[in-house]
Amino acid sequence: MKRIVIFASGSGTNAEQIILHFKNNNQGNVVGVLSNNLHAKVLEKAKNHDIPNFSFEKSELLDGTVFKMVEDLNPDLIVLAGFLLKFPSDIISRFPKSVINIHPALLPKYGGKGMYGMNVHKAILENKEKETGITIHYVNEHYDEGGIIFQQSVNIENCTTPEEIALKVQELEHQYFPLTIQKLITHNS
Ligand code: GAR
Repeated sequence: MKRIVIFASGSGTNAEQIILHFKNNNQGNVVGVLSNNLHAKVLEKAKNHDIPNFSFEKSELLDGTVFKMVEDLNPDLIVLAGFLLKFPSDIISRFPKSVINIHPALLPKYGGKGMYGMNVHKAILENKEKETGITIHYVNEHYDEGGIIFQQSVNIENCTTPEEIALKVQELEHQYFPLTIQKLITHNS
């Protein structure tokens, strides 16, 4: 049984889909949810599903506190599901090829610092893009630059607001993120 640890900063709808997917699954199990925001809805969601959940201060990402929390959870896979801070390189080196992220666009377009959540969808609308999508990728020391694992696009020609684009992207995320994680852990077992 592969041990999955989730990092998230906000509402955690993706985290919840992953938790639900692996609830009665004999290949993987979500063993912890960590957030840099004590009031993030994701922590409440984890608690409601009886998943151990932890919050930490931004400074604790860099002083070894979070490193120790993660080591104690002994993960096979670390999943960033709407985690908006830079992920520390000591954890990336300690768990090589085991940290993945979801990005709400088709990387390498619309990636990099400041490109997260609604900012991405607003930029896509402003540029009159005909399609957008999701990218699931490995995490390295640079924002949104690790190897791509999975991408899926969606047509957005009918969308007139960033919120409409966000909904379409969220549908893709919920559909494909748990399945991609499942494939990854099955492949690596
Ligand atoms: C998701 O759309 C995810 O792709 C995005 O944050 C959202 C979190 O939603 N991540 C990024 O923008 C990372 N650069 P959720 O809290 O409802 O899962």
